[in-house]
Amino acid sequence: MALTSDDAAVSEFYERFPYPPPQDDVEAYRRAWSDARRRAESHLVWPAERYRDDRSILVAGCGTIQAAHYALRWPRARVVGIDVSATSLAFTEELKRRHNIENLELRQLAVERVGDLGETFEYVVCTGVLHHLPNPDAGLRALRDVLEPAGAINVMVYAPYGRAGIYMLAEYCRRLGIGRTDHDVNDLAATLKALPADHPLTPLLRNSPDFADRSGLADALLHPQDRSYSVPQFLDFLARGGLTFARWVRQAPYLPWCGALASTPHQSRLAALTPEAQFAAVELLRGTMARHSAIAYRADQFRLDAAFDFDADEWLRYTPIRLPDTIEVRDRLPPGASAVLINRNHTYADLYLPIDARRERMLTAIDGKRTIAEICDQDGDRAAARTFFEQLWRWDQIVFDSSL
Ligand SMILES: C[S@@+](CC[C@H](N)C(=O)[O-])C[C@H]1O[C@@H](n2cnc3c(N)ncnc32)[C@H](O)[C@@H]1O
Repeated sequence: MALTSDDAAVSEFYERFPYPPPQDDVEAYRRAWSDARRRAESHLVWPAERYRDDRSILVAGCGTIQAAHYALRWPRARVVGIDVSATSLAFTEELKRRHNIENLELRQLAVERVGDLGETFEYVVCTGVLHHLPNPDAGLRALRDVLEPAGAINVMVYAPYGRAGIYMLAEYCRRLGIGRTDHDVNDLAATLKALPADHPLTPLLRNSPDFADRSGLADALLHPQDRSYSVPQFLDFLARGGLTFARWVRQAPYLPWCGALASTPHQSRLAALTPEAQFAAVELLRGTMARHSAIAYRADQFRLDAAFDFDADEWLRYTPIRLPDTIEVRDRLPPGASAVLINRNHTYADLYLPIDARRERMLTAIDGKRTIAEICDQDGDRAAARTFFEQLWRWDQIVFDSSL
C-alpha cells in the first residue's frame, strides 16, 4: 500500500506520539526569517550558486511542524511535506489553514515511495527519519532519486556514542516489557528520576529538549525501530545512497583546528589525516555526538564547491556572509582578545573563537557584499586575513558566496 511505511509499528508509533509535540510558534518563526538569514542558508548549501529563494523543497518525514517551518522560511519556494503519520499531517494542515501558508502541499506518503509524487526537488530535507526505517538505504536511495541534478539533500541521523545511555535504557525497557501506555510512560518518567548523576543518560535527560515531555521520552526510549551511524558508517551510507558528502551543517565540532583539540599534542597528526579520517577520529575523541547533520549532493554530478581552498588565490574573491545565531561575547575575555565569537547552535562549550581588535575590524567589515579582497584593501595584511577568514569558516561563523 502506497501510503504507509514498510514498518507498521513505526507508523503506529507516530500516530500515537506525533513529533515534535504539536505547538504553534508559527508567527514568531515567520518573523525570525529575514532575507539575510535565507541568503546565509542558501550559501551554506550551495556556496557557488547565485542566491535564489524560489527553489522546490521536499521535507521528507516532516512530522507536525517542519514542513510548515520550511514554507514560512522560504515564502517564494514551493514546499512539499510528506509523512506516514496522519496525526502529524493533520496538525500541519491546521497550521497551514490558520496561518494562510499557501506555498505548502502535504501528502501522506512513505519516504520509500516518494517517487510516486512524480516530481523532483532542488532541496530535500530529511531529519530524524531515516534511522527509523526498516531499510534506511532504500529510503535514502528513494530521496536521491527525486533530487534534481544540481540539488542538495540535508540529512540528519542519530550518532551512536552520544546515545549510549539511550540505548542502555531502551534495552532496559525491553527487558521489563515496558509498553507505550500512558501508565507505563509515566512510570518510566518517574523511574528515570532515580538514575545516578553519572549515568550516561543523565546529561541527555538534563540538556536535551527532546526529553522535556512524554512523547520525547517515548521517541527516545520506546521507539520500535532506531539505529545510529558513526561517522564512517554515515559516509558509507551516503555513498551507498548515490550521494557525495558536501559538508556538515555545523562543521566546527568535527575539525581538529577548533576548540580544545587544537591545543593537544595530537593536533598535527589529526590535521594531517584526510577530512573523512579527521571526522571519524574527532567523533571518537569528542565521545558524545548524538546526531550527524550533513549536506550531500548527487554523486553523479561533479561539484567541487562545498570545500574551500585557502592555498590558491581563489579565497580573495569569496564574499563572506555571517551566519545567523553567531554572537560576540565580551565578558571574561582571554588576554589580548577584544571579543569571543560563538555560534549558539554549537553544543560544545570549547568551540569559541577569541579575536583581537584588528580581526574585529575585519569581522565588522563583513556586510555580505564585499569580497575578502575588498575587505583586505582597507586593512592591508592578506596573510592575516587568509588565516582569519579560514578560521571564521571552520568555526561556523561565516559561509562564502563564491558564485561571482
Ligand atoms: C522524529 S520525527 C522527525 C520529524 C521532523 N523531520 C523533524 O525533524 O521535526 C520522525 C518522523 O518521520 C515519520 N516517518 C517515520 N517513518 C516514515 C516513513 N517511512 N516515511 C515517511 N515518514 C516517516 C514519522 O511519522 C515522524 O513524523
